[in-house]
Order: sequence, then C-alpha cells, then structure tokens
Amino acid sequence: MCGIVGIVGHSPVAPLIVDALKRLEYRGYDSAGVATIEDGRLDRRRAEGKLVNLEKLLQGEPLGGLIGIGHTRWATHGVPNETNAHPHFSEDVAIVHNGIIENFAELRSELQAEGFQFTSQTDTEVVAHLVTHELRRGRSPQHAAFAALKRLNGAFALAIMFRGDEDLIVGARNGPPLAVGHGDGEMYLGSDAIALAPFTDSITYLEDGDWVVVRRSGMEIFDISGSRVERLRQQSVGTSFLVDKGNHRHFMEKEIHEQPEVIAHTLAHYLDFAGGGVKSFDTPIDFAKIDRLAVSACGTAYLAGLIGKYWFERYARLPVDIDIASEFRYREMPLTKASAALFVSQSGETADTLASLRYCRKEGVPIATIVNVRDSTMARESDGIFPTLAGPEIGVASTKAFTCQLSIFAALAVRAGLERGTLSPEEASSHIRALSEAPRYAAQALKLEERIEKVGRELSQVRHVLYLGRDTNYPLAMEGALKLKELSYIHAEGYAAGELKHGPIALIDEQMPVIVIAPCDRIFEKTVSNMQEVAARGGRIILITDEEGAVRASLDSFETIVMPTVPELIAPIVYALPVQMLAYHTAVAMGTDVDQPRNLAKSVTVE
Ligand code: F6R
Repeated sequence: MCGIVGIVGHSPVAPLIVDALKRLEYRGYDSAGVATIEDGRLDRRRAEGKLVNLEKLLQGEPLGGLIGIGHTRWATHGVPNETNAHPHFSEDVAIVHNGIIENFAELRSELQAEGFQFTSQTDTEVVAHLVTHELRRGRSPQHAAFAALKRLNGAFALAIMFRGDEDLIVGARNGPPLAVGHGDGEMYLGSDAIALAPFTDSITYLEDGDWVVVRRSGMEIFDISGSRVERLRQQSVGTSFLVDKGNHRHFMEKEIHEQPEVIAHTLAHYLDFAGGGVKSFDTPIDFAKIDRLAVSACGTAYLAGLIGKYWFERYARLPVDIDIASEFRYREMPLTKASAALFVSQSGETADTLASLRYCRKEGVPIATIVNVRDSTMARESDGIFPTLAGPEIGVASTKAFTCQLSIFAALAVRAGLERGTLSPEEASSHIRALSEAPRYAAQALKLEERIEKVGRELSQVRHVLYLGRDTNYPLAMEGALKLKELSYIHAEGYAAGELKHGPIALIDEQMPVIVIAPCDRIFEKTVSNMQEVAARGGRIILITDEEGAVRASLDSFETIVMPTVPELIAPIVYALPVQMLAYHTAVAMGTDVDQPRNLAKSVTVE
C-alpha cells in the first residue's frame, strides 16, 4: 500500500528519494513526503495528492541533507491531506510507515495522558511519539526504537530518523516488506528492490519481526528478541529503468498492447511448442500424487484462479478448491497430506494471500505461487514459483499479469493432465498447439480497438452494466465487471449467464447494457437463450463473440464485437483483451485517472 524509502548517503538525498518514490507510487498516491536532516536539524516537505505535487513543492523549497526518508501514501487512518501525510515528526524523531498499527487508539490515549500533542489523525504518529517517549527515558535512539517496536501490534514497515544523528536510520518489518540496499559508502531502505534499483542491486530482505540499524558503513539486523541475526544478501532481479509509457497515453494501454508478446514469453517458459510437449520445469507440486489443490488469491488474480479451476478439473480431473484469500486465511480449511496449495499474485506481497500461504505452511502442504515479482515475499516463502513473464505492471488495474497467469494455469493443467494420465500425449499436444496460437489471436483482438472504443464511449453514458458468461467466460464476466468499476466507477456486476433468471433479470430494462462474453462453443446455444430473456425485456445486448456466434445469435437487436475464432482452451486468454479494452476506453471517455484510479493501490499489503 504505502511505499517507504530511506537513504544514508554522501550527496543530497531528497532528489534520490523522490526518484525512488516514483517507483513506489503504484503503492499509493494520496500524498507524498520527504524528511531530511541537515546541520543536525530535521526538516520535511509534504504534499497532498500525487508525487508530482511534492516534486513541485521541492523545486520551490528544496531540502538539503545527506540522510532522509520518504513516503508515498495510501490512506488508511485519516483523510488524504497534508497534515496526515508522512513523514510524521515528534520532537527528535521522523518516521514513515506502511501498514496499520492496530493498537494505536490505546497507545494514543496513553501518550496523550503523558502530555504528547497529536497533530494528525494517523495511526503512525503514535509510533513517533512512542519513540520520543522512550528517548526521554534516557534510551539511545536504537534502544528507544526497539522499545517502541515491542509495544506495536499490527502490520508495519517503518523507517525512523533521529534529530542530530546524520548516520542512522532504524527500519522494522512486521508484515509489509522492507528491503535493505547495500551501496558504496551509502545504504538504503525501501519497500521493494525496484525502488532501490537505480542505486544498488545488492539487497537484503528483512524477515517478519526483524529490525535493522542502517548506517553509511553498513547495517545490523536484529530479531524481535533483540538478538543479532544474519539475513542473506542477494542480487536483486529488480529493474533499474523507470518503465515509461512509450507512445501510449497510459501505462494500462501499453500493458494491454504488450500482451501478445508477454503471453508468448510466459507460455514458452513452460511449453515446448516445437516438440508439442511440456518443458521439464521445477514444481514443488506432484500433480500425479495429490488429490486436491487449494488455490487462493485476491481480485483479478483470484479470477485467474477461478478459470484455472475449470481447466484443472476438466483436463487433469484434479479437484480444485478456490478461495478469495481474505476468506481462506480465516476459514480453517483442513488440508490433507495429499493436498497442495497454489497462490496467485502479481505483486507477491498481497497481505491476505500471504497470510493464506502462511496458513498452508503450518498445515504442512507443498506450496507454489504464480507470481510476477520474483523476489517478492510470497516468492521467497513458497516451495517453488511459477513466474509470469509479464514484466513490470505499472497500471494499477491488472491486465497483462492476468493473461500471463491464465497462460500458466493452462500450461499447468496440461502438465497435470499428462502426469495424471487424463490427457494422452496427442491430446496434450493439441492443447499446446492451441496455446501456441494465443499470442497471434491476442494480436488480432487488439485490432478491434476502434470498434471497442466506440462501444466504450456509449458505455460511458450509463450508470450500471451487467456482464454475463458461462464456463470459463463466467469468471471473465466478473473480471470485465471488476475492470469497468475500478476504472470508470460505473457500477458493474459479472454473473454466470445461467444465474440470470435467479435474480439479476429483475434489473433488466432499456437503461441496462448487458455485455455477453460468448464464443460459439458447445454451450453457446444456452447463452443465446439467456440473451433472448434479456432481449424480451428490452435489455440492450453487447455480444462479444466470434463470426459464427454473431450469425447464430439470431436476435432481433444486439451489437457485436466480433473476435477471431479461437480454440476453446485459449478463449478466456484472448477474450480478456476486448474486456480490458472496453473498460479502458469507457474510462478514457469519462476522463477518469486510468493508471491510478481513485482509492486503489497496486500492492495491497494491509488486510
Ligand atoms: C484489479 C487488480 C486487483 C489485484 C489484487 C491482487 O485490476 O489489479 O484486484 O489483482 O489486488 O493483487 P496481486 O495480484 O498483486 O496479489
């Protein structure tokens, strides 16, 4: 959610911190701030809204100093304004925080009784005052920070600076990630390795409960009991360039257009197109031996998992339990020795998915994660990963990570089918041939952009939209609705087409567009019946189908987006593109902030 940075450097750090914050802005854009120490004095600049506002402020009122911390905020406690923006100060302490301090109300009352004045509505400010309180008791900065940390409940990554000490930042991690970067006479702290990539690729990740003392000369890590601990120093795979939009208006547009290429890269990692077989990639899950697979994820990644369930069950006859991670983590699902767990996450940091992974760790089953960020917490805590080769996804709404996740699910289902003997080598080869066509069909789907833009302009005039689909197109209908609501703020629902008459049909009137995702497959006629039900009630139908589907739909009035005819297995991968483009163009027509929609953040590291 929020992004944090700290630098103990040998040149003015404020511009470097802003540079690092640019790479973290996907974590939140409600406000941003930087604090430095110069001539022993703490000073800060904070601005409401996007980072660009802080940059402008710093141009007029620069900050000197060779040590500093910075923050980009996704508001949890307190409205997004300058007062609630980090860094927060208390006497001799400056602090930035990502996460939630659950016992902040109790600590706040206690500190107020001691005479501390609070200026913000945030939970973070209690930590600043708590550290000051410990300093007043005569503790050293390091020990004051440790004493304060022991009092905190919740999830947090913190960076703390102390007035008068230009060679010390204390960092702490309990939940959200925190990485230490090793430079040449400089040291860094950051929410992820990508933030630090322009400065160093030598990274040490803190583990939960760790806290770290960072100085120019190096760092020392301690665990929750205060004992010194060693953590691996490793080469980061983060990318140092700040990915740009190229010729595109938005990152999302660029990422939609990258899909033919990244789907091809991802599939080629798992499948041998020339030989028609599956490559021998490592997996901690023995698909031949397990009798149940538990899949868990959030949002779009969850919907990828839901499509994966259809494939695993159909092609590998492997039962799949799929859960939204925020439910899974508390529902105490029993996992037998013959189960395995598979998580799906673009960021690899989503708090609920990570908690679900840790639940499965305790249950003792093999754990794998389909993940885009290869050195994320989930990647590190899994027994093995299935990397998506989507490249950095900057647009907050997931697009190319989704289709790459689907590509992996399809490849894994084929592998599982072969290993479980439910697919013959010939059947598997035919699926692999179909998958090898996915990038080409995705490129053809992109050519429909002009038509989709027109439909998007029409949709931008409505307040509610219903999406319908059957089989693997049912989760895709939900994904269409999710994309539309998060980007355009239009209310949208995705339903299984067969469910229409069990309730949602009551919503149908002339004002309600119904988007039907239905390639002409073996159950197409069933969906046509559902469309008849909509048409009979004056509903406006927009059908995303192929040429045969457009002919066979035989309704009096409907609009179509006509897709290439594709093999059934790859339909949700290819049909994801018009669904994404429709949400994108509707949002563009409405003038919303496509890459950073309101209230959202890309990496949800709080519950
Ligand atoms: C929607 C979207 C979110 C994410 C969800 C999980 O467009 O991007 O629903 O899919 O927050 O995030 P990851 O995949 O990082 O775990």
